[in-house]
Amino acid sequence: MSSQIDHLLTETRRFAPPSSFAAAAVGTAELYERAAADRVGFWSDQARELLHWHTPFTETLDWSNPPFAKWFADGELNVAYNCLDRHVEAGAGDRVALLWEGENGDERRITYAELTAEVKRVANVLEGLGVGQGDRVAIYLPMIPEAIASMLAIARIGAIHSVVFGGFSADSLRSRIDDAGAKVVITADGGYRKGKVSSLKPAVDQALADRNGSGVQDTVDHVLVVRRGGNDVAWTEGRDLWWHDVVPAASDHHEAQAFPAENPLFILYTSGTTGKPKGIMHTSGGYLTQAMFTNKVVHDIHPETDVFWCTADIGWITGHSYVTYGPLANGATQVLYEGTPDTPHPGRWWEIIQKYGVSIFYTAPTAIRSFMKLGREIPQKFDLSSIRLLGSVGEPINPEAWMWYRKVIGGKAAPIVDTWWQTETGAIMISALPGVTETKPGSAQVAIPGVSIEVVDDDGVHVGNGNGGLLVVTEPWPSMLRGIWGDPDRFVETYWEKFSAQNYYFAGDGARLDDDGDVWLLGRVDDVMNVSGHRLSTAEIESALVGNEAVAEAAVVGASDETTGQAVAAFVIIKQSYLAAHSPDGLAQSLRAWVGEQIGPIARPRDVYIVEELPKTRSGKIMRRLLRDVAEGREVGDTTTLADTAVMSVISAQVR
Ligand code: WT7
Repeated sequence: MSSQIDHLLTETRRFAPPSSFAAAAVGTAELYERAAADRVGFWSDQARELLHWHTPFTETLDWSNPPFAKWFADGELNVAYNCLDRHVEAGAGDRVALLWEGENGDERRITYAELTAEVKRVANVLEGLGVGQGDRVAIYLPMIPEAIASMLAIARIGAIHSVVFGGFSADSLRSRIDDAGAKVVITADGGYRKGKVSSLKPAVDQALADRNGSGVQDTVDHVLVVRRGGNDVAWTEGRDLWWHDVVPAASDHHEAQAFPAENPLFILYTSGTTGKPKGIMHTSGGYLTQAMFTNKVVHDIHPETDVFWCTADIGWITGHSYVTYGPLANGATQVLYEGTPDTPHPGRWWEIIQKYGVSIFYTAPTAIRSFMKLGREIPQKFDLSSIRLLGSVGEPINPEAWMWYRKVIGGKAAPIVDTWWQTETGAIMISALPGVTETKPGSAQVAIPGVSIEVVDDDGVHVGNGNGGLLVVTEPWPSMLRGIWGDPDRFVETYWEKFSAQNYYFAGDGARLDDDGDVWLLGRVDDVMNVSGHRLSTAEIESALVGNEAVAEAAVVGASDETTGQAVAAFVIIKQSYLAAHSPDGLAQSLRAWVGEQIGPIARPRDVYIVEELPKTRSGKIMRRLLRDVAEGREVGDTTTLADTAVMSVISAQVR
């Protein structure tokens, strides 16, 4: 980390927006002035200008009971109506909403009129299954149009979706279904990944079967199944329904009813510092306002002419805000791609950009770095001249990757917006405005208009330009999380207790302000790792490891990795009986696979080190900092607080 910081401090390159870009940009410098003059009034204007309100709100922000915020609380709207019907009513029904590309080459172009009709049918089906306002529906689908239609149909009827990433295991799915008490699960037989069909329905069957006898109340009445992979699936009569049997048969008349602005819209689980994922809860009016606003001004959406492509899966917040809600609320045309970037060939993404004329491209640094490794020859085989804006999200982007992105993908002209935000913040918080800001490779730069951030020390005192500290949000914002599902105490503890005197939101990230006051993100300051832009908790992986019968103890750290940003490195103590009977390599292999099955392939450790002891303080706390030194091949740091100071030399010797 320290070498990375040194590197960032010497970064002096600057890139002003091309004048033609600036002249046509949606986001202007005037937005900063308006927001600075009256922050709450600014959001009130945005909400009114951007959204259709069935009942206009009279109060913008209620912050009388922090940290529980209410935005636009007496207003009523329908989120799906704002993403669909109103565009059709305004005459844009023939505009393409989704340019879908299956991994196997299947294609579908879906207009706003068609998507609206489909969402109405799905809404009718769900209501027919007894789903209503406030009920939870889990979605476990590949990146197919039905995923977006499902999210919007659930929103349309005032219910709450919980999208579970298709790469998560049956176990992870089960805990999310149980925690939310989902009534219906929407899934597919399978989807295409890496050239073959990867099944999904069996994980749903297993998740639901496992619940029998577990003491957890079975809340799931129905499973709605999209046929996508064509793979054989088991069938539970009475519970399971084929999408193609029920959706096309449903009526496409469905009037969008108004719901309060604070009606919950979705729950999305994310890893924290404990073993149990947190169900981050977002509501309707504030979330949609900021998702739409940021997509418009940061991604510079011109709905009539742009083709937008955000490569995130809908199982992550980026997919919620910048695949489903932001672009559709803006009436944009976007690409939706089912598969992996390198299937069937390593130029697949660039081929898609060429084919659909993508003009705005939003992806993660980890993807950029892996393409960088493969060489510029691959993207250079394709015509990428349609690109006029690039975005980055999910982790710090190193200046080298930033420069490569600019030169090779952006043709040395397209501005790059490095956007910092989180599942909890719901929408972009720190980013350049591409027509205004002079960009710096590696810096997320400034808070967007209407958002107030600071970098502070442990006491909440602003560190000032030229210094590092902790990133906080100092004022409530419209798309802020409203809580953790079923656990208000954890919400307060995790984000608000640290700076309760000031009522600052603690983001969990370290950051530095340069001499201009621009923000440089430095990574997490807690036991949360960031692997390929996905958040993983050390505690969650440790608890999966000790759940294996061979493991006595485990400690997990995030070790820096050239491609994935961080990688999972696990140090495990194996029970004597297993050590005798198995080879260390065999044990390491099977533990990697075990974690993949327990949580999902993204959590699979890059390294499993089998050790005899773990470094602990006298009070028994594992010193992960020292393990990180070992995993990153560095000289081991200060060991004086260890109960047994010799233990690190033993571990280092074992690992080498
Ligand atoms: C964490 C949030 C935001 C959607 C994707 C991840 C890191 C995110 C950046 C960025 C540096 C970033 C932070 C943050 N992060 N964007 N542009 N520069 N770091 O959402 O899973 O909720 O993770 O991702 O550490 O806290 P998430």
